[in-house]
Amino acid sequence: MTPDAEAIRVFEHAGWERAANTYERTFATATRPFIPGVLDAGNVGAGTSVLDVACGPGFVAAAAADRGAVARGLDFSAAMLGVARALHPGIVFEQGDAEALPYPDGSFTSVVSNFGIHHVPRPILALRQAHRVLCPGGTLAFTIWAAPAENVAWKLVFDAIRRCGDMAASQAPAPGGGFGTPDDCAAALEQAGFSGIGTHKLAGVWRQPDGPALLAALRSGTARMAALIEAQAVDAMPAIIADIDGAAEAYRDEDGLAIPLAAFVAFGRKE
Ligand SMILES: C[S@@+](CC[C@H](N)C(=O)[O-])C[C@H]1O[C@@H](n2cnc3c(N)ncnc32)[C@H](O)[C@@H]1O
Repeated sequence: MTPDAEAIRVFEHAGWERAANTYERTFATATRPFIPGVLDAGNVGAGTSVLDVACGPGFVAAAAADRGAVARGLDFSAAMLGVARALHPGIVFEQGDAEALPYPDGSFTSVVSNFGIHHVPRPILALRQAHRVLCPGGTLAFTIWAAPAENVAWKLVFDAIRRCGDMAASQAPAPGGGFGTPDDCAAALEQAGFSGIGTHKLAGVWRQPDGPALLAALRSGTARMAALIEAQAVDAMPAIIADIDGAAEAYRDEDGLAIPLAAFVAFGRKE
């Protein structure tokens, strides 16, 4: 692994180990609305043999099992796997790296990953591994977040930090892979050997009581966003929180904040 890739892996691993304890009640409430979309794009149904890559607490694998699939989950974070095994004792979860899947060729009819692939230092390696472990005719589907301009939770935080803090403060290594757009995903799927490639947009809603709760959820339940928030100067935080709180009120309904989320699902088939 190059030093850059190793630095990303170490940073991501430490971040998700730290986030695992709170993830279910923090960031998972943002990722779970997208599970039906990634399972549909991955053709997951009764009888499918599916691998959930970067499974975190295992909600995708559990939803696949609810559809009648035979599901397994894989993640490199022991802490995440501990949560997954406690929540879903009937599902097998294994520790491993998305860049080096510990399964023989042709093991699964579907591989899915909900907001996992863009955290891997070299996403193209993860896509090639997914291709390798799929049977001929099998499908890979994965989600990425849409750009902050259309993904409101991220926009609220980035705008506040731009106005009141320092967007350059984080010491996190730059992400690998350049997976910012659906076109990036489609190009990478083609490079990894997939055909029948497609992408489409998915919408979700993130329920939060108020702006400070939104910031707290991102601070404790993520890796890269958490590093940006943690890196802000202590005396800038009150203004950042007030900025988010004010702007977030535009999304209030009778049950609290309903913050729009946007993602893309990308998929391809192994010939
Ligand atoms: C945003 S969380 C997504 C978790 C889950 N899929 C969900 O839908 O909420 C990202 C997950 O990717 C895992 N991850 C990041 N890099 C990985 C890698 N190289 N190999 C395996 N898992 C990885 C993290 O441990 C974390 O559980």
